Amino acid sequence: MKIRTLRARQIFDSRGLPTLEVAVRLADGSVGVGSAPSGASTGSHEAKELRDGGSAYGGKGVSRAIEGVNGPIREALTGMDAADQCGIDERLAELDGAPDKSKLGGNALIATSWAVADAAASSAGMPLYRWLGGVSARQLPCPMFNVINGGRHADNNLDVQEFMFVPAGADSFHEAMRMGAECYHALRKLLREAGLSTAVGDEGGFAPSLGRDEEALEWMLRAVEAAGWKPGEDVCLALDCAAAEWADGEHYRQPKSGARFRRAELIEYYDALSRRFPLCSIEDPLGEEDFEGFREITEALGGELMIVGDDLFTTDAERLFRGAALGAANAVLVKPNQIGTVSEALETVQLARKSGYAVVVSHRSGETLSPAIADLAVAVGAEYIKAGAPARGERLAKYNRLLEIEEELR
Ligand code: PGA
Ligand code: ZN
Repeated sequence: MKIRTLRARQIFDSRGLPTLEVAVRLADGSVGVGSAPSGASTGSHEAKELRDGGSAYGGKGVSRAIEGVNGPIREALTGMDAADQCGIDERLAELDGAPDKSKLGGNALIATSWAVADAAASSAGMPLYRWLGGVSARQLPCPMFNVINGGRHADNNLDVQEFMFVPAGADSFHEAMRMGAECYHALRKLLREAGLSTAVGDEGGFAPSLGRDEEALEWMLRAVEAAGWKPGEDVCLALDCAAAEWADGEHYRQPKSGARFRRAELIEYYDALSRRFPLCSIEDPLGEEDFEGFREITEALGGELMIVGDDLFTTDAERLFRGAALGAANAVLVKPNQIGTVSEALETVQLARKSGYAVVVSHRSGETLSPAIADLAVAVGAEYIKAGAPARGERLAKYNRLLEIEEELR
């Protein structure tokens, strides 16, 4: 079905910063929308957002990205077949021309790419997960709830960016939601009773200032028990260290605590943490260029733990290929806006499958109300989805969409 026209407009993301939404209209009248989320702890190898600079919105305006969609992108895509997602995405990458998609902007490209997929699904009379994943798209991911926020996502003193509840013992998605929500509320109660802040960070998790990062895990353990679930059996714990933010030459230095580690010391630290707490996953335990460190930690702890590469791979099949050849990490985070188009994200998932890596589909810290990544997670049969705490509308947009898909598939 041919694309009749498309149009971008400015909306705001969950941090109150400008982003863009694209609407695509097909010749049969079907309409699809897509939008661009935005990260705070972005990897250096991510597709680059096109931002205006200057004084408006502190330089974060997106009028140039919008002009690109309403100009050259519209001109090139009008008349193309929306069902040919790969052809559309190749055309987008070609129009941009820069390897980091900085000319038209990764934000302009991903919003357009999602909008085309959404329109094509609607024209075919299918939900997006079925359109992208085919008949075998039937498996719901296990949610990873980011309930304590630190690092760049909160103005507290925690260096680890995300502390997550993973209801690995749930036997359905709705039960996983119940476990996550109950533990989240138990955590709020415990923090409040201890006189700690229950204000939330960018992804809806609490952002208390604590003595040490380990205390966050201690509070979480207590919360799981207080909610009546078994830690390590019903609910496991997970971290996203976003340690690319800690890289300091040959070493690592946590910016808030000031603690310094050599690579081997950091790996020992994680080893000790995983003995003390029921951890099932650590994302970005080391820096984004530290392939060798990822290989070492995967060799040491990868039998027990999921070692997830986010900034390491930036959803880029080439970087994943390099990591898989070494045995660096055993899971890949998939954030479509990191690579810039839907089909490139699907290509990365395909390579992950061939390489025996688990797949974690993920939101960004700055989000929109789009539920598209929920559909993507089901389409590719992702083992996990990371969409923040079970709180705040832009996070629940993804989880609530998965509840809806679960009902459809029942
Ligand atoms: P970001 O954080 O969206 O700020 O990059 C999410 C993550 O690191 O997983
Ligand atoms: Zn991450």
